[in-house]
Amino acid sequence: MYKIIDGKQLATQMRAEIAAMAAKFKEERGRQVGLAVILAGNDPASAIYVRNKIKACEETGIKSSAFYLPEDVTQAQLEELILRLAADITVDGILVQLPLPAHLNADRALKLIPTEKDVDGFSEENIGKLATNKECLVACTPNGVMKMLESQNISPRGKRAVVVGRSDIVGRPMALLLLNADATVTVCHSKTADLKAECLRADILVAAIGKPRFITADMVKEGAVVIDVGMDRDENGKLCGDVDFEHVKDKCSYITPVPGGVGPMTITMLMYNTCIAASRRG
Ligand code: GUN
Repeated sequence: MYKIIDGKQLATQMRAEIAAMAAKFKEERGRQVGLAVILAGNDPASAIYVRNKIKACEETGIKSSAFYLPEDVTQAQLEELILRLAADITVDGILVQLPLPAHLNADRALKLIPTEKDVDGFSEENIGKLATNKECLVACTPNGVMKMLESQNISPRGKRAVVVGRSDIVGRPMALLLLNADATVTVCHSKTADLKAECLRADILVAAIGKPRFITADMVKEGAVVIDVGMDRDENGKLCGDVDFEHVKDKCSYITPVPGGVGPMTITMLMYNTCIAASRRG
C-alpha cells in the first residue's frame, strides 16, 4: 500500500515554523526579515508565481518589496535596481523571477546578487558550495523535496536515487543534495540510452522532466519512493505531473501528488531561505 506525501500539509506546518523564525528575528533585531522580488515583463505564469511569493511573505511576517519592470526594461536599469537592493541593509533576499524577457542577459544580472542574498540558490558560488557539500543557500524546489523525504523519515543513505532531468533549477541541485545525503545518484536526461532500465533501479525516483505523465508504471520498481516535480498540462489542459500517478501509485511505497505535492514546498523553502539569509547576515 502506498503512502501519499502531502506537500500542502507539510508546507503549512513549515510556514508556521518560519513565521516563528521571522518573529524572533524581528524581536531580536528590531526589523523584519526582508525579501525583494523583481518581475520584468508580462509573462502570465511568472506574474502568478510572484503574487504567490508576496502572499507567502505576508503569511509568514516577511517584509516583501516587489519591483515590476516593463517588458522593454534595459539591462542597465535592471542591473541598477539589483545593485541598489544588494546595498540595502533591510533586504535579506533578492529574487529575480525567471525567465527574463529575451533581450536581457539573465546570467549577467544574476551575478550581481550577493551570494548571501541569493535566496534562489542559483549563484555559481552557492552551487559550488553545494557541489562541495558546504553550508549554502540551496535552490528551493530540490530543498523542498529533501524536506518531504525527511518528513517521512526516508533516509537517502545507501539508496539508489535516480533524478530524471538536469536543469539548473531542479535536476542538478537535486542530484547534489541526494549525493550529499549519501545516496548513490544517477542523473538521466534526454540523451540517456535506456531510461527505463535506469529508472527501474531507483529506490528514490525524482521526476523533473516537464512532460505530462512521462514516468509510467513499467519504469518504476516495486516499493520505490516517487517524487514528482512536474507541473504540466495534459491534452485536456488539466494540471498534472511528470508521473502517471494513477498507474504508478500502486507500485510505490511513497508518492507525491500533483497538485499538492512538491509545488507548495517550493515557495515555503523560499521563505525559509530568506529567514536563513537574514540570520546569517546578522
Ligand atoms: N521561474 C521558475 N521557477 C523559478 C524559481 O524557482 N525561481 C525564480 N527566480 N524563477 C523561477
